[in-house]
Amino acid sequence: DTAYLNGRFLPLADAQVPVLDRGFLFGDAVYEVIPVYTGRAYALADHIHRLDRSLRSIGLADPLAPDGWSDLVNDLIARNGGGDMAVYLQVTRGAPSRRDHRPASATGPATVVGFCQTRSPIAESLLEQGIAAVVRDDTRWARCDIKSTALLANVLLAGDAHANDANEAILVRDGRLTEGASSNVFVVSGGTLATPPLEAAILPGITRARVLSLAAANDIPVAQRRVETGELRAADEIWLTSSTREIFPVTRLDGEPVGHGRPGALWTRLRALLQADTHD
Ligand code: PDD
Repeated sequence: DTAYLNGRFLPLADAQVPVLDRGFLFGDAVYEVIPVYTGRAYALADHIHRLDRSLRSIGLADPLAPDGWSDLVNDLIARNGGGDMAVYLQVTRGAPSRRDHRPASATGPATVVGFCQTRSPIAESLLEQGIAAVVRDDTRWARCDIKSTALLANVLLAGDAHANDANEAILVRDGRLTEGASSNVFVVSGGTLATPPLEAAILPGITRARVLSLAAANDIPVAQRRVETGELRAADEIWLTSSTREIFPVTRLDGEPVGHGRPGALWTRLRALLQADTHD
């Protein structure tokens, strides 16, 4: 496994950052996960654009400028043999000589990390069955639109879901759906498709945006609107979207069947459209 660290390619096991790195001490860092299909990064420009937005939101200058990122991603893919995988990128505010909360204390260069991880194909049996999810209070901070590595709440929520035999925690805040602990959420209810609108409470998911434009291009109406917890619980279909899970049907919510308890008809359509898009 070949990784990238601050201008150098090296074995992933040898890629180490100092203890004083602000990413390690404070989670003072942003990241991206980019899916790769048969050696090609999917929606790469969208991921680079979001990384740039995350960097700007935390007041960090882009250390590679927009052009450097696509070269880095393609280089990592080539050096790791192509195929189906995911590229992980992270930028931290660097490693100053002492621990200090104030971001201005980090005057040196940012830390830039990249590596690849295999992305096992999603098992057809799991897709036929769908997955279980639990509903949980959204215990995260107020700026979930920034793709920050400060993911303690998400990590605890993922553990809570797993401990309850579920694959994802679907989060609600102030009585309405926000997103999953590591995914965006779509619901089908009353014959229409809906997903919460972009705001500070959710990540602007790249897969979410692709699903929205695929739906629009195929005359499938989608509303970006608030979804109350009651509507979520009564939905006919629930899907998760993310770069690693693609578009995934949720068929049990807090132990109750979603709709008729099987992946729905609209999911089957959008899944086929997304498959065609990732593989074209
Ligand atoms: N997570 N919301 C949250 C909180 C996420 O962590 C993710 C993705 C998404 C979906 O975004 P996208 O479609 O751009 O992947 C939504 C990545 C995959 C991760 O942390 O591994």
